Amino acid sequence: MNRKNSKQINLILGIDTSCDDTSVAVTYKRRVLSNVVSSQIEMHRNWGGTVPGLAKREHESRIANVVNEALRQAITNLKNKKPKITTGLEDIDITKPGWEEESLNRIDAFAVTFGPGLSIALEVGVRKAKELALKFQKPLIGVNHMEGHLLSPFALNIMGVGKIEKTDQVFPALGVLVSGGHTELVQVNNFGEYQIIGETLDDAIGEAFDKAARILGLGYPGGKIVSELAKQGDKKAYNLPTPMLKSGDLNVSYSGLKTALLYKVRDLKGEERRQERETKQSWEPGLQPEEKKQENLLTREQICDLSASFEEAAVQTILNKIKKSVKTGEYNSILLGGGVVNNTNLRHQIQSFIRKYNKKTNKNINVYFPYSKKLFQDNAAMISLAAYMSNLKHKENILVKEKEVESLDRVPNLRLS
Ligand code: KG4
Ligand code: ZN
Repeated sequence: MNRKNSKQINLILGIDTSCDDTSVAVTYKRRVLSNVVSSQIEMHRNWGGTVPGLAKREHESRIANVVNEALRQAITNLKNKKPKITTGLEDIDITKPGWEEESLNRIDAFAVTFGPGLSIALEVGVRKAKELALKFQKPLIGVNHMEGHLLSPFALNIMGVGKIEKTDQVFPALGVLVSGGHTELVQVNNFGEYQIIGETLDDAIGEAFDKAARILGLGYPGGKIVSELAKQGDKKAYNLPTPMLKSGDLNVSYSGLKTALLYKVRDLKGEERRQERETKQSWEPGLQPEEKKQENLLTREQICDLSASFEEAAVQTILNKIKKSVKTGEYNSILLGGGVVNNTNLRHQIQSFIRKYNKKTNKNINVYFPYSKKLFQDNAAMISLAAYMSNLKHKENILVKEKEVESLDRVPNLRLS
């Protein structure tokens, strides 16, 4: 096979189908040329969560179009923004038939998430990436989804502007990964050199937000809704627990907090009902027990206060362990990645702690998170970026021979260390 394996790999097309977003991106070195996320949330919302079979079917029907859309957007962005780089894509004419194949031919390598994630969903992306690598005779790079979240703060926009400068001394860094499936604290000594030093013993922080939303009768995915309502509530209104506070290690737990919220809601609903019966004698004999149960008797004010109290406890739980890590380790920076980075309260509390800590200790720890919100959530730009940043340093991850490409398989419970 006549692969261009001697050529420097700069232009990468990345694919992520680890959960319920079909995403394809094109990156040039650290620059994001395009990052298309085709969200399936509307389809899964009806079921209150991600349905694996549905996710697989949707990935299969969307993936080819999303690949073309990522290429089209990369070319259009290059033509419109005119960054001073030569990627090989800028002179492609997207009005000419066959532009898609010509573009794919100019890609240096394909990158794909091979874990962790939903097995049958991952499979769709892995299959597509293998097919492209074999057809266009290009290398294939398998990427750990969590490494993508971890390195997402390194992304630059198409003009080369981002959060981390070339001269910044990032490592050793404390990686804080907060998503719907994971909550991990990672010792990052260099690209590809990771050690998980703390993690959740049960639910992930994003999962806890989603469950809290369900308990409060709000929609899915719940993190965004809970955090919006929390802004209007009083975080001191209810006293919810921050488990593992004194555990001595860097692990966290979120299932106790969820249960505490559930009991609090039950109490409040029960009390409301009693008061209603006593004062208004509003017992309705025609109402079936099921209907009675489904009634949401919480007031808007209570829901906002519960959201704020829950959010505060969820943030404090991870913040306590971040504080502990920073005080016991030697870090130049904190790298924040994952969907829960969207939570302003979490970001602000981490930044505020580090500001005070730097002042007190005369240190200069930086807090980095991605330059765009689109890079917080699941997306493929972080995958091709990780392929560029990390796996290129570790060349054993670049699959070149046909047999190697064919052998890449999904690993649903892949770990960082
Ligand atoms: O990283 P991500 O997009 O997907 C996974 O890899 O899991 O994270 C999604 C998670 C969901 O659980 C969602 O509820 C949560 O991130 N999330 C938030 C916020 N926005 C999204 N959690 C708290 N506050 C937010 N503003
Ligand atoms: Zn993710």
